[in-house]
Amino acid sequence: MTLAICPGSFDPVTFGHLDIFERASTLFDNIIVVVAHNTMKNALFTPEQRVRFIRDEVEHLSNVTVESVDGLLVDYARKINARAIVKGLRSAVDLDAEYPMALMNREISNIETVFVLGNPAKGHISSSLVKDVARYGGDVTSFVPAAVARALKEVMA
Ligand code: PNS
Repeated sequence: MTLAICPGSFDPVTFGHLDIFERASTLFDNIIVVVAHNTMKNALFTPEQRVRFIRDEVEHLSNVTVESVDGLLVDYARKINARAIVKGLRSAVDLDAEYPMALMNREISNIETVFVLGNPAKGHISSSLVKDVARYGGDVTSFVPAAVARALKEVMA
């Protein structure tokens, strides 16, 4: 059985991320979506909230589970015997950011990163932009699940 992890900040999860989880779920026997901490970003939602948002949206994917992880991602990957890290790419700009992380993770753990191309129709969606639109009262319902849109509205009120 091949297990892969799909890590990210997911603050909050978007339809772009969900597209990647679906694609990843067809490539590996099991996928664990990992909500992790990015030291470069200040999260709006707690890890528990982020996990809940994702769990509610991946219920139909029988081989996908969701966890939050503190600390080094590859320590967790090794502990659970994950075969690969799966990340989604929207564009070459994403690759610029992902490239050093993938190489660093491989150097310190030998775990490969597999890149999956997202749906170009969702290529403009990012958690940061969604938060910005929501902050100024814009409608984000076409970018994030309804529960996330409601939570953003409450938090930004
Ligand atoms: O969605 P993001 O913010 O691009 O995801 C980045 C994330 C959270 C996967 C990355 O920051 C991470 O792996 N954090 C956990 C701590 C860690 O392992 N850092 C070393 C990364 S090379």
